[in-house]
Amino acid sequence: MSSIIAIDGASGSGKSSTAKLLAKKYHLAYLDTGSMYRAITYIVKSEKHNLENNKNTANFCHLLDKLISQRKLTINLNPENFKILYFNKNINNQLRNQNITKLVSHIASIPQIRALLIAWQQSIIAKHNFTNQHSHTKGIIVEGRDIAKVVIPEADIKILLKSNETTRARRRAKELNIKDITSLAKSIDKRDKADLQINNFANPSADTVVVDNTDMSLNQTVDFIAKIINSKLNNLK
Ligand code: C5P
Repeated sequence: MSSIIAIDGASGSGKSSTAKLLAKKYHLAYLDTGSMYRAITYIVKSEKHNLENNKNTANFCHLLDKLISQRKLTINLNPENFKILYFNKNINNQLRNQNITKLVSHIASIPQIRALLIAWQQSIIAKHNFTNQHSHTKGIIVEGRDIAKVVIPEADIKILLKSNETTRARRRAKELNIKDITSLAKSIDKRDKADLQINNFANPSADTVVVDNTDMSLNQTVDFIAKIINSKLNNLK
C-alpha cells in the first residue's frame, strides 16, 4: 500500500469529510492540519498571547515546542475520533467558532508559527511512513492547503479538491447551520484571499490530480478518489 496521501483544498471543498472517509476505507491515520492552525489560534486567543513582534512570537513558539514535546498538546489521528487535546482536554469543539475562523489565517501567516507546525506535521507523517522501518501503521492521509507542495512533496498520491464558490458556501452553511449564505460566501472569499497569499495552493504541482467536485456528492468524491488510489496501487503491483 502506498502510504502517504496529500489532499489540499480551500474551505468548503469537502476535503475533511472526504479525507476522513478515505482514511477509514484504507485503514490509514488521518491528519487535519487546519485543526492544528486552529488549535494554535485557540491557545493564542484564550491565553491572550502577544505576537506583536518577533521576540514575543519566538517566546510563544518556544512555549509551543515545549508543550508538544511534553505531550501537553497532542493529536488523536484516528479518523473516527480525530481530536486535539490540550492538557488532556479535547478542544475540538472550540476550534470552529467564528472568533477562531476570523483570526486563523493571520496566525497561519506568521512564518515562525508555520515553520513550527510544518515540522510537527512532518514528524507525525514520518512515524506513519511505510518506508520508515520504525513505522507502526500503514500510512496516513494529510489534508490542508500546503501539504503536497510544502509539507510532504514526496507524498505517494496528491489530490487538489476544487469546487465553485457558491457550492462551497452552501456546504459550509449546511455544516455550520448558518442561514445567511451571502455573508458566509463573503467571509470564505476573504479567507481564501488571505490563505492564497500564504500558499498558492490553487496552483498545484505537476504530479497533483485536480478533482473538481462541484457537481459531486461526498460519496461520489470519495469513490472518484478511491479509483485514483486503486489505480496507483495496481501500478505498484
Ligand atoms: O481547513 P481549515 O479551514 O480548518 O483551515 C483553517 C485555516 O488554517 C486556513 O484558513 C488557513 O489559514 C490555515 N491552514 C494553513 N495551512 C494548512 C491548513 C490550514 O495555513 N495546511
